[in-house]
Amino acid sequence: MSFRIQPTPPARPNRCQLFGPGSRPAIFEKMAASAADVINLDLEDSVAPDDKAEARRNIIAAIGDVDWGNKWLSVRINGLDTPYWYRDVVDLLEQASDRLNQIMIPKVGCAADLYAVDALVTAVERAKGRAKPVAFEVIIESAAGIAHVEEIAAASPRLQAMSLGAADFAASMGMQTTGIGGTQEDYYMIREGAKYWADPWHWAQAAIVAACRTHGVLPVDGPFGDFSDDAGFVAQAKRSATLGMVGKWAIHPKQVALANEVFTPSAEKVAEAREILDAMAAAKARGEGATVYKGRLVDIASIKQAEVIVRQAEMIAGG
Ligand code: COA
Ligand code: MG
Repeated sequence: MSFRIQPTPPARPNRCQLFGPGSRPAIFEKMAASAADVINLDLEDSVAPDDKAEARRNIIAAIGDVDWGNKWLSVRINGLDTPYWYRDVVDLLEQASDRLNQIMIPKVGCAADLYAVDALVTAVERAKGRAKPVAFEVIIESAAGIAHVEEIAAASPRLQAMSLGAADFAASMGMQTTGIGGTQEDYYMIREGAKYWADPWHWAQAAIVAACRTHGVLPVDGPFGDFSDDAGFVAQAKRSATLGMVGKWAIHPKQVALANEVFTPSAEKVAEAREILDAMAAAKARGEGATVYKGRLVDIASIKQAEVIVRQAEMIAGG
């Protein structure tokens, strides 16, 4: 056991991140009125090259003009392999109001990518005398990103959240799929003639969770492309929540309620966690480190597991 205490991630709800193209300002008010905890206005892949400049102007105006309530407001900039990203950063930081909480950096491949953006952001913030430092979130969506995931998680004190971007990740890895997340037809095992599907995203998600938990960053599951498949979305989100992720993207407004439902610990789960804490308090009073709850072992590790659920519920209720 390391003597280092595991850092706590930012204490804000991040159950759902709703995306919308910066080139479609007609939906900004609808995004603001949604039940998503985080809003991601996009300058990257949902905006065509010819629309980038106008999308920037739309977003900069909307950051100040739209009432975003208590939502965490983030803008996805273009990747460092494009000619657009520096202008995204400079215009946002020079012109957008302090209501901007965060910028999202896509296709991050190594710690130096964050260093480069941090250097530019810091210089513009100083030049403009911006009082509120902007936070970062990143997308792990390449072979390099997952290979360097731990150094990326540690790369900048601005970093608050990290998502898995399934589509670009699959392409970069050479995976034979055009699906964005979820079950993949050819990823199965055979036992006694029957097919059992497994989860090809599992290992990347677990690697992201481990890197994030080591460095106090929020691990988030990215998009699920088939927005007509509610059951598929929920199943993917439940697997992510079970692995330790705190939320999931919505690429259509109908996915917001589904994500909120999965990533809000249920009343039954919270009640059970509180009962485990009570059972352990009683055990401690008897001088015991372990006891039996509903026929199963609970011990000091169970306290930590139960506290994760209770803390999450309290943070969501308080937010
Ligand atoms: N946020 C808020 N509202 C949205 C929305 C979004 N991302 N996408 C659509 N809506 C609204 C529509 O304006 C429509 O509103 P109305 O009932 O008042 O007319 C309603 O939700 C239903 O929309 P629908 O017709 O089902 O979808 P669409 O064809 O207008 O748009 C997408 C579908 C997928 C193109 C659109 O949802 C979208 O652009 N999603 C985000 C894509 C993105 O940002 N990708 C980058 C991250 S992977
Ligand atoms: Mg992507």
